[in-house]
Amino acid sequence: MNLSFLKAYALEKRIPIITDEALALIEAEIKKHHVKDVLEIGTAIGYSALAMASFGCHVDTIERDEFMIEEAKRHFDRYDEDHQITLYPFDALTYHLPEKTYDLIFIDAAKSQYQTFFNKFTPYLKLGGLVICDNLNFHHLDPAKVNRHTQGLLRKLDVFKRFLADHPHFKTEFYDLGDGTSLSVRIK
Ligand SMILES: C[S@@+](CC[C@H](N)C(=O)[O-])C[C@H]1O[C@@H](n2cnc3c(N)ncnc32)[C@H](O)[C@@H]1O
Repeated sequence: MNLSFLKAYALEKRIPIITDEALALIEAEIKKHHVKDVLEIGTAIGYSALAMASFGCHVDTIERDEFMIEEAKRHFDRYDEDHQITLYPFDALTYHLPEKTYDLIFIDAAKSQYQTFFNKFTPYLKLGGLVICDNLNFHHLDPAKVNRHTQGLLRKLDVFKRFLADHPHFKTEFYDLGDGTSLSVRIK
């Protein structure tokens, strides 16, 4: 499916969506590992979910923002012709997903909560499954040149990256593409 019109729409509305580079990584991993079931945290307008569906996956995706939910619904109604996408219009921090296991979890929501999302949703991941996190570099901002709130976010992302690197159940690689992407494989 050619989703360039949706990408242009996101750009026009200043809605952050996955970069082409990070999406290419996801596509390659989906094909390499024969991924069928994806859980996405952070739908926005549905761009990445539609892209992953076009790679042959079923995508369960969670979004809490009302405007985004309406936009995503509109796009899924129109373009998810084979009903490969299920939208959960909830806050991922509090929502209890139905019992199910996934081959890939894509975390692309509030940066301050990445570790919470990781801990909450990786029990749903199959052994050998993948977790991909986007936006880990936060534009390579210099902590000395940003406000305290942003310094806090940068610190949290650093803690999360260390947590991933040291996690005994996951083998993680970090890629300097998009705005910083990690790929973790569940090994235990
Ligand atoms: C970067 S955008 C997602 C972009 C989308 N994955 C794409 O590439 O097309 C992040 C989205 O996560 C949503 N979000 C942030 N925290 C969330 C939470 N706790 N639960 C559900 N959605 C959340 C935001 O409302 C926002 O729409």
